[in-house]
Amino acid sequence: MARRKNHSRPNNKMRNLITKLNPKSPISEQYRTIRTNIQYASVDETIKSLLVTSSGPGEGKSTTIANLAVVYAQTGKKVLLIDADLRKPTVHYTFRLDNLRGLSNILVGETTLNDSVNRTDVENLDVISCGPIPPNPSELLASRKMDAFLREATDAYDIVIFDTPPVLAVTDAQIMANIVDGSLLVVRSGQTNIEAATKAKEALEPAKAKLLGTVLNGREKKASNYYYYGTN
Ligand SMILES: Nc1ncnc2c1ncn2[C@@H]1O[C@H](COP(=O)(O)OP(=O)(O)O)[C@@H](O)[C@H]1O
Ligand SMILES: [Mg+2]
Repeated sequence: MARRKNHSRPNNKMRNLITKLNPKSPISEQYRTIRTNIQYASVDETIKSLLVTSSGPGEGKSTTIANLAVVYAQTGKKVLLIDADLRKPTVHYTFRLDNLRGLSNILVGETTLNDSVNRTDVENLDVISCGPIPPNPSELLASRKMDAFLREATDAYDIVIFDTPPVLAVTDAQIMANIVDGSLLVVRSGQTNIEAATKAKEALEPAKAKLLGTVLNGREKKASNYYYYGTN
């Protein structure tokens, strides 16, 4: 019975990056389209920092942001992906990191960007994992230390990309949306309900960050304008 239970639980450790494993697949192409659309959504200003969020859990935030980070890095840009989901972090699973040190340590002054950054096997892509889960994520993200860290990160990298928790559950994503240049909202086909997506959009709109657009995740159709995800 225990085995059955494990089977139905998503196994974070099995996460694979399609854009890394199969850059020529149509799915990877869709991630590149998202990257291009971000450029078009922000013609007048260069986006140096970006976050992805969604209304609820399991909608594809972490999948989307990790693949976006890869396709940005594939253009030769120096990219830093940071796990700012200090509640249910997954970036260290995706990049097979130990997560002993990360953003939470930086924000309490225990370590620095340079001492906690991980190189990855994707050229130009560095990652900072969450670090030990702190008791007060919102407070840490809203701190002056976070502002200073973001400035340092955007000086050192061409683009800094954040994974965040669901926007309707906690304030973390809204806090982050106020300090980054742009936000993306993920909705998952067949899962996200319209009301929740609308509420998430409304929650992000007052933020300083530009809401750059919405990513439709999991649409199982090869329509050219849809981003979809599959296993082949
Ligand atoms: N389009 C998709 N098709 C199949 N599985 C997906 C898709 N998008 C995400 N997943 C899987 O669903 C789970 C939740 O996705 P994740 O990106 O972690 O969501 P979130 O960060 O929003 O909680 C993960 O196991 C991920 O691999
Ligand atoms: Mg996630």
